[in-house]
Amino acid sequence: MINKPNLLLDSRLAAAASLVRDGAVVADVGTDHGYLPIALLRERKISFAAASDLRRGPLRCAMTNAQKYGVQDSIRFYCTDGLEGIPLAALRVTDIVICGMGGQLISRILSECSYTQNGQIQLILQPMSAVEELRTYLAENGFAIREERIACSKNKLYQCIAARFDGASHFYTPAQLLLGKQILQRGAADPLFAPLLQKYIQKTQREFAGKSRGGDDTTKSQTLLTALIQIAKKEGIDYACTGIF
Ligand SMILES: C[S@@+](CC[C@H](N)C(=O)[O-])C[C@H]1O[C@@H](n2cnc3c(N)ncnc32)[C@H](O)[C@@H]1O
Repeated sequence: MINKPNLLLDSRLAAAASLVRDGAVVADVGTDHGYLPIALLRERKISFAAASDLRRGPLRCAMTNAQKYGVQDSIRFYCTDGLEGIPLAALRVTDIVICGMGGQLISRILSECSYTQNGQIQLILQPMSAVEELRTYLAENGFAIREERIACSKNKLYQCIAARFDGASHFYTPAQLLLGKQILQRGAADPLFAPLLQKYIQKTQREFAGKSRGGDDTTKSQTLLTALIQIAKKEGIDYACTGIF
């Protein structure tokens, strides 16, 4: 590791990496370039990592990067779908990271791996889309959301979720499914909250308008929009600036 270049994660991956526990053994699913486990190993925050990808090209890139940053002896690579065939128990994996994929794909990968149904295992998830579907999957399948963070990278907003299995059913309102209970509790104290809320107000307004035009049922969109505007008012956030009111 000595005399190797440093690796700085962008804000999105840094937010996910900050949720990984000290001393963890990480499985990074869909690792692509491998930056997240490589940076955590370089910082000595984690001791060992398994990195998987469905495609050989990204995995080769991750292997090259692991060499470049001098951590190749602390990562094992798997060309596989999700967590399939990774010896999670033998490797004593404690934290499973899945970043940069759609919420539905993340849910599917989790549903195919019973190793995740253990309260000691932490999931760190960063969906690129369908964040409500992912929270619904977690709520309905016994996973408690323990921490949520907003990240902004290249002018795009992302949510990172840390969850663990507790076997209980969890209930979230439509606004909580979209924005996260913890993110909502912190509200405008987080400087990224206002832009995130404004983004979802705009998105919900577009959905509402699309459904209205198509003659579809608008009840769900309308209820969500009302809830989001109430939150904006409570937090003193300008929702008129979204340009749609
Ligand atoms: C957009 S990249 C995200 C890379 C990295 N995790 C990040 O957040 O920067 C998604 C990666 O997931 C991989 N991938 C897609 N579906 C997968 C699956 N079912 N199992 C494992 N990897 C998958 C893709 O090949 C790609 O390298």
